[in-house]
Amino acid sequence: MSLAGRVTLVEVGPRDGLQNEAQTIALGAKLQLIEDLAAAGHTVIEAGSFVNPKWVPQMADSEAVFAGIKRHSGVRYAALTPNLQGFERAVTAGADEVAIFAAASESFSKKNINCGIAESLQRFAPVMAAAAERDLPVRGYVSCVLGCPYEGEIAPRAVAAVSGDLLEMGCYEVSLGDTIGSGTAGSMQRLLEVLLARFTPAQLAVHCHDTYGQALSNILVALQHGITTVDASVAGLGGCPYARGASGNVATEDVVYMLNGLGIETGLDLAALIRAGNRICDTLGRASGSRVARALDLTST
Ligand code: HMG
Ligand code: MG
Repeated sequence: MSLAGRVTLVEVGPRDGLQNEAQTIALGAKLQLIEDLAAAGHTVIEAGSFVNPKWVPQMADSEAVFAGIKRHSGVRYAALTPNLQGFERAVTAGADEVAIFAAASESFSKKNINCGIAESLQRFAPVMAAAAERDLPVRGYVSCVLGCPYEGEIAPRAVAAVSGDLLEMGCYEVSLGDTIGSGTAGSMQRLLEVLLARFTPAQLAVHCHDTYGQALSNILVALQHGITTVDASVAGLGGCPYARGASGNVATEDVVYMLNGLGIETGLDLAALIRAGNRICDTLGRASGSRVARALDLTST
């Protein structure tokens, strides 16, 4: 199939990227990152997460993050909410949309959110009802769609079942999380063949961690199947604290470089994104995880 002319990138760096950092990150550095990402042209930025701060201490200051954001018009600032308590915190903080997060693997669900898949869906029901009352859009995540750190291979039908539940509950889109980045172009294709027999491409997004270096190929397969929403994390920051060894999301800079090469519009300024990624990496004291940022850095010196 021919590729879409435009793709929306959901920037998850401030949340997925920073949630797994061992060092404390100053509020000012988080706000600078979010500002830089909006200035680079992002229209959806996952800025924080209202989970139990004992579980994910790096996200404990999400209220302060939302209070400090210098809002750009046309940008949606989103937050993760695991339950009604998190949803109420997100609403009070001024999140424009929230995301609930389930898994296709029973074991990962228990490690990540302390309950099995069926119970997690029950916990999300009041979140969906409260969001509907306020007309707040809710995104759904499904983790471990191409593999689980505890269970190994995951059947596409398990992904289809939980994705269907989230969509039926009212999520406007399901983001398919390759949490440990073990998927390949082949396994992504097999998954999408099953999912697209039941859902439209517009109901799906992909969220590829790059642990095995397969994220760009997997995203290309998703584009070839008509999916036009792709999650990415600037400088490839991040990982999930409950998936040991899982590295960051695909770097936003690398996705934009690939999409530019395909002539697909994103509205993003690659140079500005690279500066955003380099600035947060300087703050963290490490090299960028973006191959494109590193390559362009080398050629510019
Ligand atoms: P729990 O311990 O089962 O919750 O945790 P509980 O309802 O029994 O409450 C226990 C305590 O937590 C209580 O406090 C609650 O008030 C507090 P205490 O009475 O003991 O003082 N609590 C909260 N506090 C603040 N905000 C809240 C909240 N909820 C409860 N929202 C829970 C269940 C889901 C809360 C916990 O397991 C949790 O916070 N998990 C989050 C884990 C997480 O953030 N993982 C990373 C994000 S997911 C991800 O990265 C994957 C993704 O990127 C996609 C992919 O890559 O696949 C999205
Ligand atoms: Mg993730």
